[in-house]
Amino acid sequence: MVSPVQLESHPMNILVISCSLHPQSRSYILARQLIQDLHALGASSTLYDLRDLDLPFCDAVSADKTEAAVAIIKAIAEADAILLAVPIYNYDVNAAAKNLLELGMRAWNNKIVGFICAAGGRASYMSVMGLANSLMLDFRCLIVPRFVYATKDDFGDDRLPTMHITSDVIKARLQELAATTVRLATALQQN
Ligand SMILES: Cc1cc2nc3c(=O)[nH]c(=O)nc-3n(C[C@H](O)[C@H](O)[C@H](O)COP(=O)(O)O)c2cc1C
Repeated sequence: MVSPVQLESHPMNILVISCSLHPQSRSYILARQLIQDLHALGASSTLYDLRDLDLPFCDAVSADKTEAAVAIIKAIAEADAILLAVPIYNYDVNAAAKNLLELGMRAWNNKIVGFICAAGGRASYMSVMGLANSLMLDFRCLIVPRFVYATKDDFGDDRLPTMHITSDVIKARLQELAATTVRLATALQQN
């Protein structure tokens, strides 16, 4: 049961970024549901879908100056919290998610960051910890201690345009992630 969150007058700005490039992405479906859960709590949130952005790979020189990179780096810098919906590839987040950290660098400083994972099996459940460690230790981010980890068994019409979440556990965990993120962001705004 998720208790309601009292929002203060300062508008909350939560960014949800779907990092998969798969045309029928499970993490995108999870991200879309999370946006609805955030809106239900009264939190202003925006969904970015990396499939729609022409982001270059970080080259440590000029890639972060491209139009798409500038736009998403600005959105990250201005966000109170960032929730990353990531595919798990080779026991890690996919390269597009890692690239986002490399492109944004200092824009990630002091952010609240949470994770939703889409994976093929149950065994990769700690795969975001490398990225989470870097966010904590390099960028002093606060990691939301409510992870969502879903596999294909949690979806109906898997990989079809009508794909949707069927698991009540995953739906509840998404609501918990939304509520905890809003609670943390509200608390930090007050300090
Ligand atoms: C290159 C590649 C590597 C993968 N590695 C893993 C893995 O290490 N562990 C796992 O559980 N699933 C792995 N998977 C399965 C994906 O995590 C799964 O398909 C997930 O739904 C991808 O997210 P998406 O549907 O949002 O693209 C891999 C898939 C691909 C294509």
